[in-house]
Amino acid sequence: MTNKMWGGRFQSGPDAIMEEINASIGFDKRLFRQDISGSKAHASMLAKQGIISKSDAAEIRKGLVQVQGEIEAGTFTFSRALEDIHLNVESRLKDIIGPAAGRLHTARSRNDQVALDFRLYVRDTVDHFDAQLQGLQVALAEKAEVHAATIMPGFTHLQVAQPVTFGHHMLAYVEMLARDRSRLADARRRMNENPLGAAALAGTSFPIDRHDTAKALGFDRPTRNSLDTVADRDFVLETLSACAICAIHLSRLAEEIVIWSTSQFRFVKLSDKFTTGSSIMPQKRNPDAAELVRAKPGRIIGALTALLTVMKGLPLTYSKDMQEDKEPAFDAFDNMSLAIAAATGMVKDMVPNEAEMRKAAASGFSTATDLADWLVRTLKLPFREAHHVTGSLVALAETEGCDLPELSLSLMHSVEPRITKDIYKVLTVENSVASRVSFGGTAPKNVKREAKRWLKLLKA
Ligand code: ARG
Repeated sequence: MTNKMWGGRFQSGPDAIMEEINASIGFDKRLFRQDISGSKAHASMLAKQGIISKSDAAEIRKGLVQVQGEIEAGTFTFSRALEDIHLNVESRLKDIIGPAAGRLHTARSRNDQVALDFRLYVRDTVDHFDAQLQGLQVALAEKAEVHAATIMPGFTHLQVAQPVTFGHHMLAYVEMLARDRSRLADARRRMNENPLGAAALAGTSFPIDRHDTAKALGFDRPTRNSLDTVADRDFVLETLSACAICAIHLSRLAEEIVIWSTSQFRFVKLSDKFTTGSSIMPQKRNPDAAELVRAKPGRIIGALTALLTVMKGLPLTYSKDMQEDKEPAFDAFDNMSLAIAAATGMVKDMVPNEAEMRKAAASGFSTATDLADWLVRTLKLPFREAHHVTGSLVALAETEGCDLPELSLSLMHSVEPRITKDIYKVLTVENSVASRVSFGGTAPKNVKREAKRWLKLLKA
């Protein structure tokens, strides 16, 4: 049997393989809400413009409501022979309301229809991510407020560098996520134009009103070039690329959680809710959720790469290649959402081990920079010289097998005789972090203020 929606000039139906490679209903059925909203807006515009009758438009609307109800209730039978969500919905509409259904596709093509449906879907997804990321920022900022003065080692090269606060570390991620949200918002602004009415590629001879459908569907304006409109998937690419960067941020947080929760570090404790046990080693508590969040960029970057590759070199305008835009994007979006949710759960759930982190922060001569700064400030040494003197003191402490605060004044004098006992004040990790009051620095009072500022902003 030829296709009942477009088979007019065909004598036979497709080969089974043709049907299999061609059909997208298996995955684009998740666009049904967007497809139906688009059709409702289109039908009511057609009626306003006198292109179809008011009564046909009313029938169409009623029928579409029923179709949506059937899909939501799970009673709708999707047909692969009907290729995609657009033809499945329209065909069922015809069963329900009869010939008036045939008027819905006036001045429209599946090319602008799919561009519309997917844009609406991606826009909804961006809004969902924005809310989720805000939730994660709140969780991080709340941890930061509580732990504004909790000391931990700051690392460079994963070597203890200088003491910082746990709150400061949490707020670093709040900043990253703020940029992620701003990239998504930026993508949303650009994608928020109405593709409907570009028709197959050239526009239409019917007196449609694209501003009307734009308004009905929450778009800022109609797109300006019909060829570009049906050929464009930038909105997916931009969203995937913003997701890829965000997923990288989440993977860095996840990796830190993995490291922090090892028995070697013991910086944080994860609860039973976000860990698993081992089937053979009874003592184990594995950070599986963190590991999976760490792994998710694989798929998300994969989806971005897949769609960039599909779009590369495609001649204008629509080609069926573009049907390959959906599956990787859906998978990436689903997993992005899961990763944000898991990261949020873990952040809320984890309990920092303050004693362990302080001990680690005090190790590895982490206040050496404070010592050098003291020499600059008090003895007026040039920083380079102070750096050298401090290096010798560190070497001395190393030979003595002690940390800098345990080095006696007389030993210090063997390196620099002008040092006074005042120096011990800057050698504690508490004094070190408290002194970092420069804008954006780790001093607890800065961190407290920043955490409060973020929470106010985020909850406004
Ligand atoms: N299922 C198609 C897609 O996802 C819809 C557009 C089909 N257009 C066409 N001219 N065959 O791309």
